[in-house]
Amino acid sequence: MGTSGMRTIMMMMLLLCTTTVGIQNVAAVRGNGDEEICLVGSENFECAQKSPKILIKGGTVVNADHQQIADVYIEDGKIQIVAPDIKEMEGVRVIDATGKFVMPGGIDPHTHMEMPFMGEESCDDFFSGQQAALSGGTTMHIDFALPHNGDLAEGFRLWVQKAEKSCMDYGFHMAVTKWNDKVAQDMEWLVKEKGINSFKFFMAYKGSLMVSDEELLQGFKKCKELGAVPQVHAENGDAVAEGQARIFGLGITGPEGHPLSRPPVLEGEATGRAIKLAKFVNTPLYVVHVMSIDALDEVSRARHSGQRVIGEPVVSGLALNDSKLWDPDFRTAAMYVMSPPIRAVGHSQALQDALSTGILQLVATDHCPFNSKQKALGKHDFRKIPNGVNGVEERMHIVWDVMVNSGKISVTDYVRITSAACAKIFNIYPQKGAVLPGSDADVIILNPNAETKISAKTHHSRIDTNIYEGWGKVEVTISQGRVVWENEQFTVERGSGRYIPMKPFGYLFDGLDKVDATYMSSMQAPVNRNF
Ligand code: URP
Ligand code: ZN
Ligand code: ZN
Repeated sequence: MGTSGMRTIMMMMLLLCTTTVGIQNVAAVRGNGDEEICLVGSENFECAQKSPKILIKGGTVVNADHQQIADVYIEDGKIQIVAPDIKEMEGVRVIDATGKFVMPGGIDPHTHMEMPFMGEESCDDFFSGQQAALSGGTTMHIDFALPHNGDLAEGFRLWVQKAEKSCMDYGFHMAVTKWNDKVAQDMEWLVKEKGINSFKFFMAYKGSLMVSDEELLQGFKKCKELGAVPQVHAENGDAVAEGQARIFGLGITGPEGHPLSRPPVLEGEATGRAIKLAKFVNTPLYVVHVMSIDALDEVSRARHSGQRVIGEPVVSGLALNDSKLWDPDFRTAAMYVMSPPIRAVGHSQALQDALSTGILQLVATDHCPFNSKQKALGKHDFRKIPNGVNGVEERMHIVWDVMVNSGKISVTDYVRITSAACAKIFNIYPQKGAVLPGSDADVIILNPNAETKISAKTHHSRIDTNIYEGWGKVEVTISQGRVVWENEQFTVERGSGRYIPMKPFGYLFDGLDKVDATYMSSMQAPVNRNF
């Protein structure tokens, strides 16, 4: 059919359509399931041969800044209309969301799929980990690509291959584990040509991933030049090595040796150091997995002084305490080993409070699962237990439980900390992180009155244990405009996941040039002297 014929039919259908709705006076009209659909607006119209078409009716649509009862019309993988009372049309699948929340799918800013680490590889790959994510309402994640033998470009290529099996959208951060000209060139290539806008520096894991302060400084400078966000794993790696030797030397060989060997003070020290170096360079800084009051205090102080520091707590740190690490059963205790460690009672409450008041900005998981057999490698030496816990499947439920059900935050804030803030920091908002016309149709329907159980027996990750037995609620997950999780069933397609490139110079960089200019003009130097 030609454009003019299409346009005529479209206009006729619009006249027949009794419901004209929404901010832009938009109507959705259509024929049968496989025909063309036309969207008519006051300013634009579009006709496309696309399916599926989904109308989510009667839910409370929640964005980070606003909530309203409205319908959501999805087509062609995008949200097309958000407005009350969109007319139901033949061939459009209608999902009743009455009494439920319709929200942007979660974005997990911190995962490690198929990560080679401590002689093992994390047991979820991009397919199994993403299935787990989708069943828990997360529709995008940002995974940490690691350099291959220090080579960033090679590491990126490897991660591209790993991610070929993806069934949902994803992006990459890239780690920097040493410093030389090639690393600097690769960073530039990754930012300018490969859609990476963040780099992670490990201040711990001495002898493998750890960088020195000098390398950190070089990396921060390069990040700033490129408009990429530097991220730090903040623990003092030298002191951790010393602590491990000390605790092991005392005959403490089990999992409880892990938190004892790397106490909060070492996290606080490294967090403060990274923040001060970032201030020296005048670059924004993103602190991953803030686990302790000590680190939180540093983030809080810096933010109070106007420094651009983002603090990311993870669900394990927000919801758990370290007691299980003293469990007499090794298998149970070992599954809680991650770094920085899950802290003693009191730390998680402080992190929750900081999240509710905006001192911390968003919630991740650090999903890095190792199964019991892998964890058993450290049966006689806690230093050999692969570090990492699950969480990508559970994050949305746990944050709901701990933060919303407890009354600490509103539902709009829930969207902010699980989705929108991440999209803004990594410069992909409102493509992601919002239920708005034009946004990607990554949407969840969350029933606040339903409960499902989280259990190692029923979860979708490959890990054979689960540190979060007991929480739950997302009923429907829509990814790329398709229902991929409903009635506890998946309809996912291996290979359908898309890499989401992320542009540099996000909002965290706005105005930094002015701060630099003020600094330069304040120096009153060099002084002209006559010799
Ligand atoms: O224990 C953890 N966190 N494992 C994953 C690697 C990291 O430090 O993020
Ligand atoms: Zn880390
Ligand atoms: Zn991590």
